[in-house]
Amino acid sequence: MTQTLADMRRDYTRDGLSEEQAPAEPFSLFQSWFGDAVKTEQLPVEPNAMTLATVDAEARPHCRVLLLKGLDERGFTFFSNYDSAKGEQLSANPFAAMTFFWPALERQVRIEGRVERVTPAESDAYYQVRPLGSRLGAWASPQSRVIRDRVELESLLAQTEQRFLDTAPSCPPHWGGYRLLPERIEFWQGRPSRLHDRLNYRLVDGAWVRERLAP
Ligand SMILES: Cc1cc2nc3c(=O)[nH]c(=O)nc-3n(C[C@H](O)[C@H](O)[C@H](O)COP(=O)(O)O)c2cc1C
Repeated sequence: MTQTLADMRRDYTRDGLSEEQAPAEPFSLFQSWFGDAVKTEQLPVEPNAMTLATVDAEARPHCRVLLLKGLDERGFTFFSNYDSAKGEQLSANPFAAMTFFWPALERQVRIEGRVERVTPAESDAYYQVRPLGSRLGAWASPQSRVIRDRVELESLLAQTEQRFLDTAPSCPPHWGGYRLLPERIEFWQGRPSRLHDRLNYRLVDGAWVRERLAP
């Protein structure tokens, strides 16, 4: 029998998140939860996949899945096409939000803040470790633009392959990294009967304030 949408629900019993377990700043907790996700989430789930939300110049929101490619004390780094729809939205409004969902762990992390471009040297360093196909694709695909059909994309790739027949492709000027500088990071741990744990970290005058939110 087909389950109806109204009947689809799960009770979350795996873990809890208490103030005693939570550090004063959110980065080490994210690292620890990310480590758990890498160990626990089953392939083909990509634990570094997250949903990135941006807002355009008309205040309309847009979201899509991207891969997190770097994390340090400054923030959360991802790579994309600067001329894409998301690139235009981030130029118009640099504030964004990302959400990670790790279903096997019954966990969600929400991160919000300002986004800036990484340096060209950082973009180039990551570009150079990508597989050749991805490096060529970054040149060939006018991400988010309307194209006629698949044949047009393949022809753009063939032209790019010709162009870089004798030289290694360099990082395109329209491609690179963004770093989200977090101002809020919320850790959500599913609990029974929808009484979930939510610990929220807010940056106030350069210091992290931790608080519990009602589920
Ligand atoms: C699992 C997964 C990972 C993805 N990773 C990236 C990524 O790291 N960078 C990227 O530009 N697009 C990535 N995409 C494609 C984006 O979701 C999106 O289609 C693309 O960036 C264009 O978005 P835009 O038109 O809103 O700019 C990924 C999609 C999926 C499903």
